Amino acid sequence: MTTAPAARQLAISAVRPALTDLVSAVRRAIDARASWAHTAQLVADQLRAHLPGPDILTPDQRRGDPDRPVGHVLHAETDGTFSILGLIWRPGQSTRIHDHITWCVVGVLQGVEHEDLYDSQLNSIGARDNPPGEVSGFAPPGDIHRIRNTSLRTAISLHIYGTDITRVGSSARRYYD
Ligand SMILES: [Fe+2]
Repeated sequence: MTTAPAARQLAISAVRPALTDLVSAVRRAIDARASWAHTAQLVADQLRAHLPGPDILTPDQRRGDPDRPVGHVLHAETDGTFSILGLIWRPGQSTRIHDHITWCVVGVLQGVEHEDLYDSQLNSIGARDNPPGEVSGFAPPGDIHRIRNTSLRTAISLHIYGTDITRVGSSARRYYD
């Protein structure tokens, strides 16, 4: 399947205690008012320091969706500066090839996410398998990728985007396939 993960559950739960420290740390990182690329690295540092376990999502959320990857909004900052989502990929599920409207930080909580990287001509420029604990940050331009769960276990990751995803609907700027 090739649909991109959508923020299907846009109702935002109250800030989960397990995310309180992370939310505060992300606010401080954003307050540095650095470039998008630098902000992504600053936020990635904080996600490494405050990475929750997969139980940040409920058992029902962790089951995922048989038809597509699914995202659950865990926090949306009221001033629109960032939001935090949990994404669930069942085995074989994939995003389309896409880039992003803002900086993004991803931390893997369970399973392995295979990431394919592309240049602006859609030539493959790399691939990597991101295991639990792996955190990466990136920002446009030069951020074209696809994420697939190539393992036999459901993969779960935490995504932090530099916008309120409940307002814009998707982090993808453009699809290339
Ligand atoms: Fe992405």
